[in-house]
Amino acid sequence: MTMLDTRRFLQIAGLTVAGLLLAACGKKEEAPAPAPAPVASAPAPARVVVVGTDAAYAPFESQNEKGEIVGFDIEVVQAIAAKAGIEVKFVNTPWEGIFNALGQGDRDMVVSAVTITDERKQTMDFSNPYFDAQQLIAVKENSKVTKFADLKKLKVGVQTGTTGDEAVTKLQGKTSTNIKRFESTPLALKELESGGVDAVVADNGVVIHYVANNPGGKFKTVADAEFVPEQYGIALKKGNTELLDKVNQGLAAIKADGTYDQIYAKYFGQAPAKAADAPAPAASK
Ligand code: ARG
Repeated sequence: MTMLDTRRFLQIAGLTVAGLLLAACGKKEEAPAPAPAPVASAPAPARVVVVGTDAAYAPFESQNEKGEIVGFDIEVVQAIAAKAGIEVKFVNTPWEGIFNALGQGDRDMVVSAVTITDERKQTMDFSNPYFDAQQLIAVKENSKVTKFADLKKLKVGVQTGTTGDEAVTKLQGKTSTNIKRFESTPLALKELESGGVDAVVADNGVVIHYVANNPGGKFKTVADAEFVPEQYGIALKKGNTELLDKVNQGLAAIKADGTYDQIYAKYFGQAPAKAADAPAPAASK
């Protein structure tokens, strides 16, 4: 082939390819019109926000008979999400790995009755507080315990790595062998029922719920004003301010329009304490 021939050949070849492409396109256009697809013009739907929760913590988060994750925290986050225009999906996540999962990006948020503490604030961000809590002691009905200090030398069950664990560790000392740590709070309470521990220290809401629902366990609760007030917040990965802002806006909106109060009343039967509206004060640690 001469130089000219080659060019001509390429031109023709090019035209042929273009023609084939046109034909292909034309064919596509002739095909029966597919159902209107608004997705094509609408912006891509936002990514689902994955929410980790240790669903063994009724009434805040637990699994119902169908295996669905339900509870106060869940409804609060669902309501926040509706206001903030985000889509959330709850994933049951063991407490012990829950903050790692957040740090690694396996979860976008954690709602798990998480107490806002200064120590946790170093490694994660928190929403504004959404619930006031305090530690509460569970003992058997016949127990002589009347205050937290009485637990100094007793066997005490806690859920590992919770604020209850922190409180008892502080009371008994880091090296105490009388602190029995459990993977979940219900497991600690079962141990109390069977006599393996003398007391359990855990969040008041969960202790009250458990005691009320297990009359056969013959428990009673002991409150102590020595326990520092705690507040729950939704935890996010440090620096995820975009999502944090949305969550805080959603939270403010559900508090303003009565949705929060409705959810609160459904689970706790009384108006929420107004302190939960205030910005986070110094946390327990
Ligand atoms: N409020 C306590 C804490 O932050 C206990 C939370 C445990 N939550 C749970 N879903 N197991 O340490």
